[in-house]
Amino acid sequence: MRRPIVAGNWKMNTTRSEAEELVLAIRTLAAAAPTEVVVCPPYVWLELVSRALEGSNMKTGAQDVYWEDSGAFTGQVAVTQLVGMCEYVIVGHSERRRLFGDTDEIVARKVAACMGAGLIPILAVGEDAGDHAEEVVRRQVTTALAGVTPHPLVAAYEPVWAIGTGDAAIPEYAQWVATVIRDELRIAGFDPQTVPVLYGGSVNPENFPGFVAQPDIDGGLVGGVSLDARKFATLVEQASTAAY
Ligand code: 13P
Repeated sequence: MRRPIVAGNWKMNTTRSEAEELVLAIRTLAAAAPTEVVVCPPYVWLELVSRALEGSNMKTGAQDVYWEDSGAFTGQVAVTQLVGMCEYVIVGHSERRRLFGDTDEIVARKVAACMGAGLIPILAVGEDAGDHAEEVVRRQVTTALAGVTPHPLVAAYEPVWAIGTGDAAIPEYAQWVATVIRDELRIAGFDPQTVPVLYGGSVNPENFPGFVAQPDIDGGLVGGVSLDARKFATLVEQASTAAY
């Protein structure tokens, strides 16, 4: 049985005091759950959030990373700088791909860098409106994992059209895409049954039970609702209930 994961991607939100308040509220409300809870704040609050979660079983994640270890890369953060600060790194988020030019090849370098440093990539894939989902997802997973040997990994299916729109995918459809992802994981040499596959895109407490009820969906990668500690804790609870 794969352990469920609920990861909150705060994106470019929260002031310092809001981040502090939010992480402490999440810690209080969601600490007892058997679900793996991952909090992904902006870089500038990563240390603060990691410290606030010390002594709990909750984890932290970065929202992106650069693949070089050090050097003249103004504005970038290296995997080596994240080691000890967080356990996970979101890689290939559609906002990185769309707004900041992350190609499939760049995503592959970031995945390899994370794995080399012992960080767990949360590899985000998903089609845009009008794209052929299977084709896009197969290509994104294959390219991202080309040249890496199996290491701990989380995959997240995030259809671009569902992100921040209030228009989540239908759970059975996300389940089908999750099986496509697992097939590509198998082709890439991973044991597909050991890799958690999350759903992301307008997740909320009303629709989340439908996703975690699917056999191939192991949790969620959550944007907007992760900024609301109570609702986020509800998702954590729902993921735990679905799995056990
Ligand atoms: P929303 O939950 O706000 O749709 O965002 C999803 C997302 O992009 C998580 O990475």
